[in-house]
Amino acid sequence: MSIDLSTISKLADLQSVRSKWRHNSQTIALVPTMGALHEGHLSLVKLARTVANKVIVSVFVNPKQFGQGEDLDQYPRDLSADLNKLKTIGVDLVYAPDASQIYPQGFSTNISVTGISEGLCGASRPHFFGGVATVVTKLLLHCTPDIALFGEKDYQQLLVIRRLVIDLDLPVDVMSGPIVRENDGLARSSRNIYLSKTDRQTAPLLHKGLLETRARLQKGAPMIKAAQQTIELLSRAGFQLDYFELCDANTLAPLKQYKGQPARLLIAATLGRTRLIDNIAVIG
Ligand code: PAF
Repeated sequence: MSIDLSTISKLADLQSVRSKWRHNSQTIALVPTMGALHEGHLSLVKLARTVANKVIVSVFVNPKQFGQGEDLDQYPRDLSADLNKLKTIGVDLVYAPDASQIYPQGFSTNISVTGISEGLCGASRPHFFGGVATVVTKLLLHCTPDIALFGEKDYQQLLVIRRLVIDLDLPVDVMSGPIVRENDGLARSSRNIYLSKTDRQTAPLLHKGLLETRARLQKGAPMIKAAQQTIELLSRAGFQLDYFELCDANTLAPLKQYKGQPARLLIAATLGRTRLIDNIAVIG
C-alpha cells in the first residue's frame, strides 16, 4: 500500500500548512537532514513522533557547510529513496526547499557561533559551523517547530545549535537522539557509502578505539596516555587522525584527565577518502 507523503519545496506552501496546524493547536517537531537517510535519521524521526503531533523532515544539501574540495557534488541525493523510507514511519511533511528558498539572490548573511565551534571539526573545517548555523536558523524560521531534533553523532554541531538557539532566543526546544551504530560499532553516516570494501572492514576500529580509551580513562590514566595505544592502532590501520580529544561535555573545553566530570571523547579521522567522526560519553 502506498501512503501519500506531501513534499513541499516552497516556503509559501509550507507556511500555509503550518498555519492550519497551528490553528488546530498541533505541536510541530522538525528533523533537519541533508537526505541520504539512514537508521540514525529514522530513529530521530521516531523520537520526534513521540514528542509532537506533527513531524516535518527537511531535506536540503546545504552548500554553505561544504568547503572547497569537499564532497558537495558527490554528496548522495535520492529524494525518492528518502521518501520511501519516511513513508513507513509516519512523517507528516517533507520540506525539500529549492536552494532559492534558503539562499535567495543577494543572500549575504552568515551566522557565526564563536567559541564552541572553533576547536575539533571547526579547526579543520572553518566554514562548516557557520554554514550549519545559517541554514539551521533559516529552517527553524521556515518551519517554526516547537522541538528540533539532532543526532549526537555530530556532537559539536548539537552544542553549536544549542548555543545558537539560546543566543538568538529562538523559540524552540533542541532535543538530541543517541548515535545509531552498525552491528560492528561503526556509527551510521550518510558518508559511509564512500568507504571501499576494505575500508568498511577497518572503519569500526574508530569506535573500538574510543571504547578502549574510555576504559583506560576510567581507570585514571591521563588522556595523553589513555589515547596512545588507540592512536597507534588507528595509524597502523591506515587512518589519518584529525583530532582525538577528551572534552567537557557541555563546553567542549579540552580535558587532560577524566575526574568524574561530564565528559565526551571525540575523534575525527580520514580513512581512504572518507572523513569519519565519532564520539562517546565518558561516565564514572
Ligand atoms: O547534520 C546534518 O545533516 C546537517 O548538518 C544539518 C543539521 C541538516 C544542517 O544542514
